[in-house]
Amino acid sequence: MRPDNIILVGFMGAGKSICGRLLARRLGRCFVETDEMIVAHEGRTIPEIFREAGETRFRQLEGEILELLKLKSGEVIATGGGFPCREGRMEVLRGLGTVVWLSGELAALYARAGRAGTRPMLDGRSVQEIETLYRRREPYYRQAQVVVDTTGLGVDQVVARVLAALRETHALGV
Ligand code: S3P
Repeated sequence: MRPDNIILVGFMGAGKSICGRLLARRLGRCFVETDEMIVAHEGRTIPEIFREAGETRFRQLEGEILELLKLKSGEVIATGGGFPCREGRMEVLRGLGTVVWLSGELAALYARAGRAGTRPMLDGRSVQEIETLYRRREPYYRQAQVVVDTTGLGVDQVVARVLAALRETHALGV
């Protein structure tokens, strides 16, 4: 049987961490973040990993974390924005539970992501380059079983929509 994790994917600024945490609390489930798993494993921050080891190493670490996710069940998992964006990744994630894409207008995501702190993938990139990155990633996100448009919504409203969508797809077993 497929493990019943709920896996949040989406671009930087989509609210995966904050909504995931609240979603987990509402459901009485454990919450994990792939970025936090990497930081704990490496003993350094994400910007440090990018700076000292490069993006390629960071993506390798994401691959290693994917193996650990295969051991989980019943959890809410927030992934980094680039985590599902490689060949075959979404298929694996879909095999681990219900994948939810927190989508939204790029301008709003960008505004939120810029506010929330240090993101190496945004550093030194023009708005146009970020849009290109987003467009390249969209086809991966689109493979999620559930899509929730977060445009104009607060955290509570997003979580309510995720819960409603999960009930509709019977992903909560209720
Ligand atoms: C990244 C997104 C970040 C983090 C890393 C790379 C990306 O996570 O994994 O900085 O490539 O989009 P968030 O989506 O939580 O910002």
